[in-house]
Amino acid sequence: MPIRIDRHPDPNRWARAVADLWQTRQEMNPALRLCLPAGLTPVPIYARIGQAVNAGRLSFRQTRVFLLDEYGGLDPDDPGRCANMLRRFLLDPVDLPADGFQAPDVDAADIPAACQAWDTALAPGLDLVLLGIGSNGHVGMNEPGTPAGIGSHRAALAIETITASARYLSHDRFPTWGITVGLRQLLAAREVWLLACGMAKADIVARLVASKPTPALPASWFHEHPNCRLILDADAAARLPPSHASAGSTG
Ligand code: PGA
Repeated sequence: MPIRIDRHPDPNRWARAVADLWQTRQEMNPALRLCLPAGLTPVPIYARIGQAVNAGRLSFRQTRVFLLDEYGGLDPDDPGRCANMLRRFLLDPVDLPADGFQAPDVDAADIPAACQAWDTALAPGLDLVLLGIGSNGHVGMNEPGTPAGIGSHRAALAIETITASARYLSHDRFPTWGITVGLRQLLAAREVWLLACGMAKADIVARLVASKPTPALPASWFHEHPNCRLILDADAAARLPPSHASAGSTG
């Protein structure tokens, strides 16, 4: 079954629709096990979720948050670390207990053991996963060529991903690897939302929609997921073929 496509006319309505949908999921299951990305895509969504918590309309007290991926080789307090971005944009302003957030231990001396420990933390499964899409089709740090059956692992970053990391960093010591939740765990999640907003994502979105599931484009595996939405604003959807013109919501 191909991915369901939801389209929204502009970035504001896109962010509001995703935040509203998220709130319904968390109301239905306050103990939601959420896997969340850093990066720029979800920032306006996180801002709305923070507002809902501030207004007393939503609580993270029972929620469990798992970080999608983390760079290796950056200082623990580097603002460009994924955990630090997620804290800044979402976790610090909400009422998540300190033990409600878990991330892979990229600073461990034994990285294979850290990945094993991360697999164990993820083993009960994920209820909802939010994903951005890299310009090369990666999800998390599952780069092109990654097998669909893989669990959490140390990933060598693709050159596009290394270049893109400059957007988050205030220095040029770019990361070359990281630990990511694996495609196996992402594909086993009960619900997955692939998020894209803006013209910079229009080409990869068009490629993804046209692609059969293939290791060359990791996001394409989600065509096989039983409960996955591709949630787009008009610019990210701009290069979809006309056959998709009427797909999904208009927000
Ligand atoms: P972005 O990153 O949200 O900052 O565009 C997405 C990704 O590379 O996975």
